[in-house]
Amino acid sequence: MDPLYYENNALFVLDQVKLPGEACYQKLTGHYEVAGAIKNMAVRGAPAIGIAGGYGIALGAQAITDSEMPAFLNSLEEVIQVITSTRPTAQNLFQVAGSMRSRAAGAPTPYEAKKVLLDEAARIHKIQKELDIILSGYGLEVVPDGATIFTHCNTGALATGGYGTAFGIIRAAHDRGKNIQVLATETRPLLQGARLTAFELKEAGIPFRLITDSMAGHFMQKGEVTLVITGADRVAANGDTANKIGTYSLAVLAKAHNIPFYIAAPSTTFDLATLTGQEIVIEEREAGEVTCFAGKAVAPEGIDVYNPAFDVTPAELITAFITEKGIILPEDLSSLR
Ligand code: MRU
Repeated sequence: MDPLYYENNALFVLDQVKLPGEACYQKLTGHYEVAGAIKNMAVRGAPAIGIAGGYGIALGAQAITDSEMPAFLNSLEEVIQVITSTRPTAQNLFQVAGSMRSRAAGAPTPYEAKKVLLDEAARIHKIQKELDIILSGYGLEVVPDGATIFTHCNTGALATGGYGTAFGIIRAAHDRGKNIQVLATETRPLLQGARLTAFELKEAGIPFRLITDSMAGHFMQKGEVTLVITGADRVAANGDTANKIGTYSLAVLAKAHNIPFYIAAPSTTFDLATLTGQEIVIEEREAGEVTCFAGKAVAPEGIDVYNPAFDVTPAELITAFITEKGIILPEDLSSLR
């Protein structure tokens, strides 16, 4: 199921908030609508956010009326600002904004820039699938036959618009006939694991069990986890990695139980301008996501909560990064430059 596609001057996004109960697409024709869909997580997962952001910028550009390039580029900056102010942690969004900005700046006229921006958004979309497939091929090296792979949140096609990152490795291992199974966390508060990863695993016919987040230590202690693979929202230059809240706890547990802990992410998720994880902005989301479960209130009204959407796993807890450029040790990350 495609999480997004562009057709007839509109971006269509599968509303992931409604999955798995309902599969319906939202039609988005302007950048404010695209920003809304990113913010409310109809489209989510760092690479898919980047792709949607690219189309959002291209759509916003089509409505700019300035006829001279300097004015056009100023107006484009406002569009980019609307798109990038949606979710601060996913590096892909900012990476895409940067490439859209520089492609537009190289165009001779606003008319040309509008065409170039649509082409660039489509190119970014197309290339993601290729990155996922190459990355997943490298990932096969770390998956022994008979492995139980532990994963968190959702990193499948729904999250990338392609083949998946951590999920892509799982899918590739299964498709190549490796005898693997998966332990997938439900991923509170928004249940991307239960709603989306379980959905994709079931569709793909990959053997798995769904567990609550708090069961992770139990299964690692029992020796039932061969390796952990998660995705990433942003990897700093020193290898510190922001990913879905709970990832850090999993890395600590994996270390305590001598279980390899891998991050699978395309190079577009790496932010070499951010030196360490301390500089990564962590998105704080609304309290209702914590006080409600599947739309139903489970806590008293009017209480204070914390709701960071991501946490940072220090590089020393990460065995290696699985990227489309190969498997990279945290200490070798500077070679990515
Ligand atoms: O809040 P989400 O659902 O956008 O968070 C998604 C994750 O944390 C994923 O692990 C990450 O974006 C990588 S997706 C290939």
